[in-house]
Amino acid sequence: MSTQVTEQEQAETEEESTHQRRRLEEKAERQEVRDRMRERAETDLEQADTVFDLKVFRYDPDIPEKEEPRFDTFPVPFTKGMTVLDALMYARDHYDSSLTFRHSCRQAVCGSDALFVNGTQHLGCKTQVVDLGDSEGVPGQIRVEPLPHQEVVKDLVVDMEHFYDQMDAVEPYFDADELPSGDLEEQRQTRENREKIKMSSRCIWCGACMSSCNIAAGDNEYLGPAAINKAYKFAMDDREGEDRKQERLEIIEQEHGVWRCQTQFSCTEVCPKDIPLTEHIQELKREAVKNNLKFW
Ligand code: SF4
Ligand code: FES
Repeated sequence: MSTQVTEQEQAETEEESTHQRRRLEEKAERQEVRDRMRERAETDLEQADTVFDLKVFRYDPDIPEKEEPRFDTFPVPFTKGMTVLDALMYARDHYDSSLTFRHSCRQAVCGSDALFVNGTQHLGCKTQVVDLGDSEGVPGQIRVEPLPHQEVVKDLVVDMEHFYDQMDAVEPYFDADELPSGDLEEQRQTRENREKIKMSSRCIWCGACMSSCNIAAGDNEYLGPAAINKAYKFAMDDREGEDRKQERLEIIEQEHGVWRCQTQFSCTEVCPKDIPLTEHIQELKREAVKNNLKFW
């Protein structure tokens, strides 16, 4: 029995030291990659015609030395066609692999990289560095922060849960009045009706509009422009029928719904998909009046 225990202990110790060795080797490999990337950055900087400073907000609540918010500045060699997301990736890959931000599609489709760039909400992948420069397009410094009015999880990553809850509150799914008879029958819509909701259907759930909205900043329960736009998309879809439209209007005319909007247009200005959000909110207000719903 005691021989068995000793053998087991010995096996566990060996396994532990193998793990430890592997961890140290991986750490050394990572350090090697980092050194190589930093050397490459030095060469890039020497060879670049233009270098600009990328000033990035940093915060990590899990590491005591990093839990105090600060800005880090990374020199980035400018290349033609470079976006803010490209610049962030350059900084992460060449200077600090712990720099954290969301991105995926890199073509303004997934909505994951809405950021606060030089004081305005932008999609990182859609914003050209050259457009943030002076009259000759030479960028001096670009400041990147997480979306305002949202809790920061780490560096440029914000908690989107509240935004998604507000979207959910308007029941963002198509609810047909009548299903087509045949299995292969299409759910047809008139050309005019499609045209009417076309812009509203472009939303990519990036949260830029909500972050820019003063009303949402002061009223946490306000549905916000993106959710109201989503409600517009379905309320205006003729295929849902009048009863469903009435139900949808009842959701958006609630105390923290459309009537909170003060037509400041900030959401419309920052929307990367050019959705006329304020216009849609106003139209829903008119629909609510027409339907004799109550004011708050
Ligand atoms: S409405 Fe525009 S800004 Fe708002 S979440 Fe949708 S795409 Fe983003
Ligand atoms: S990375 Fe998908 S929208 Fe920018």
